[in-house]
Amino acid sequence: MKIILTGDRPTGKLHLGHYVGSLRERVKLQDSGEFDEIYIMIADAQALTDHAGTPATVRENILNVALDYLGVGLDPKKSTIFIQSQIPELFELTAYYMNLVTVSRLERNPTVKAEIAQKNFETSIPAGFLCYPISQAADITAFDATTVPVGEDQAPMLEQTREIVRKFNDTYGNGQEVLVEPDILLPSNNVCKRLPGLDGKAKMSKTLGNCIYLSDPADEVAKKVQTMYTDPTHIKVTDPGHIEGNVVFTYLDAFCTDTAAVNEMKEHYQRGGLGDVKVKKYLLNVLEEMLNPIRERRKQYESDPAEVMAMLKAGTAKAKEKAATVLSKVKQAMKIDYFA
Ligand code: TRP
Repeated sequence: MKIILTGDRPTGKLHLGHYVGSLRERVKLQDSGEFDEIYIMIADAQALTDHAGTPATVRENILNVALDYLGVGLDPKKSTIFIQSQIPELFELTAYYMNLVTVSRLERNPTVKAEIAQKNFETSIPAGFLCYPISQAADITAFDATTVPVGEDQAPMLEQTREIVRKFNDTYGNGQEVLVEPDILLPSNNVCKRLPGLDGKAKMSKTLGNCIYLSDPADEVAKKVQTMYTDPTHIKVTDPGHIEGNVVFTYLDAFCTDTAAVNEMKEHYQRGGLGDVKVKKYLLNVLEEMLNPIRERRKQYESDPAEVMAMLKAGTAKAKEKAATVLSKVKQAMKIDYFA
């Protein structure tokens, strides 16, 4: 069996970083027909681990994320889209896995470490936040996932999941592989693993305000492309320019399929004589060609939110059934299936 599980926290609309880092690949995998089951999770419970005080934000972004999914071409007939918090089995699994992980191991998780610093949690880490890698292991194993397509920032989560799987199987498996050890699937294009934001300083992120959203209207995208960081030493058009750290060229690498054209522009830019305005215009065209169909499809669904919620409800029921079979397997292995 080949099974995919992946997902996103509903803390905002999805952006181009999500698209090249994961969504684009997901749709390809979905349409490849190579997978027996595909689960796409809206991780609202995980979002609450650092948004405990603002549940309204999480609630309102459930629909946003679902619309973005449908917009990019995820198809509920092929991919089961569901809401994490509505599946209590995931939290039962989390509780049992907690016994297999030390606090110091959680504190050493590089993604958790970086987020603790970013959110100023140092002196008061919410316990739920510290434990979210364990809950993520529950998300993945509850579906017997073999394949987890995510961005590079999720690599430490996958590593921790694999450790939990091995520990569980060693402790309770009696020689059997009760839980499935998943593989990470990273984007093949290097720039797509960590797409920088418009300012070029860090990866695209809502908190940093350096995003282009999949649902941004065309004029907004045009404005944002204009503000993109290029090469501050490239003052006159005739000056030789640098492409390293130049966000416009990074985005061309991530989004433009005509590599020959991009290479030619790179050479011209480095030689001097190619202006930023021209390159930005080219990039805008590339982005619009990609975003337009996404935007159109998203709009269709936007007009019928009740239908989208019904789709999520059906997906959640199906996902719950699967998670329940894995949980009963786990309880049996742990010898806590008293009434079975
Ligand atoms: N941590 C992921 C993110 O921040 C969301 C997520 C939760 C996830 N559970 C998962 C991703 C399981 C892959 C598999 O985007």
